[in-house]
Amino acid sequence: MIDRLKSLEDQALGEVESAASVAELEAARVKYLGLRGEVTLVLRGIGDLPQEQRPQVGKAANALRQRLQESIEAARVRLQEAESERALAAETLDVTAPGRWHRLGHRHPLTQVHDEIAAIFVGMGFEIVEGPEIETYRYNFEVLNYPPDHPAMDEQDSFYVDDDLLLRTQTSAVQVRAMEKRKPPFSLCTIGRTFRREALSARASFVFHQCEALVVDKGITFADLKGTLTLFARELFGPQTQVLFRPDFFPFTEPSADYSLTCMLCGGVGCPVCKRTGWLEIGGCGMIHPNVLRAAGHDPEKVSGWAFGLGTDRLAMMRFGIDDIRLLVDNDMRFLEQF
Ligand code: DAH
Repeated sequence: MIDRLKSLEDQALGEVESAASVAELEAARVKYLGLRGEVTLVLRGIGDLPQEQRPQVGKAANALRQRLQESIEAARVRLQEAESERALAAETLDVTAPGRWHRLGHRHPLTQVHDEIAAIFVGMGFEIVEGPEIETYRYNFEVLNYPPDHPAMDEQDSFYVDDDLLLRTQTSAVQVRAMEKRKPPFSLCTIGRTFRREALSARASFVFHQCEALVVDKGITFADLKGTLTLFARELFGPQTQVLFRPDFFPFTEPSADYSLTCMLCGGVGCPVCKRTGWLEIGGCGMIHPNVLRAAGHDPEKVSGWAFGLGTDRLAMMRFGIDDIRLLVDNDMRFLEQF
């Protein structure tokens, strides 16, 4: 019996030592010290032994139980510590790890210029309006007083969806759309995409952008146009900016003019961008033609108005030093990320 206890001890201590987890250790405890455990059974069987063996075997078995319990406790502490260390290591937060970041977008250079222009007009009390990019012949030409087959349409050939629908060639197409829904006085501004059947080059594109503004009220004169346009130009380019008006023709204004601003790059001295003239041609303007006011349902005997339009791509190109208009619509990230 003593030999049996000895081999039980080696076996049990070996299993306790080699237990790799608290669960394995618990299994070993149950196997030896549980209700039906092997050491428990020895202790229970002591009563059946011959009288003279009982004290010796009892003592040895109790000592074994004692040792086993102690080494199980020690192993349990060791395993629990190891397990919690493993858990901690698995859960640690590495504050030096590089963060996961989301790329933030930013506004397109053209949008930045558009927002700036819109802010200036809103500051002067203008309402921002919009119109469709696919437009009818009527709004793009007819109500703007273009007679059928007039040569003024030659420089505004477009892409036609059908006989009547085309990609708008000018933001002037928004004029009558917006005016017919309002009663004077009103001051409106629209900014958007325009299209023409142009050969693609560094300076011209089949898609470009315009801004258009107009005011209609009693007694509006060319002086109002000059004043507002000058104020706008100085807000955009600085207080030194001068505006130069030259006679021009547009079917929807009478009289009409084109206008240039002091070259923002050379301050008017002359440089390659302004072709050494000191002036940058920006757009057209004029007093709204009576036929256009009439087409929008307003009486040209009672109210008058001015309008002007400008191309915004060139403004953005000058502002950011961009030398090719195609870059503005290419959507090349390597280009866009520079602004
Ligand atoms: N729509 C004209 C163009 O694209 C520009 C223009 C001229 C707009 C005179 C106007 C204006 O509002 O009054 O060439």
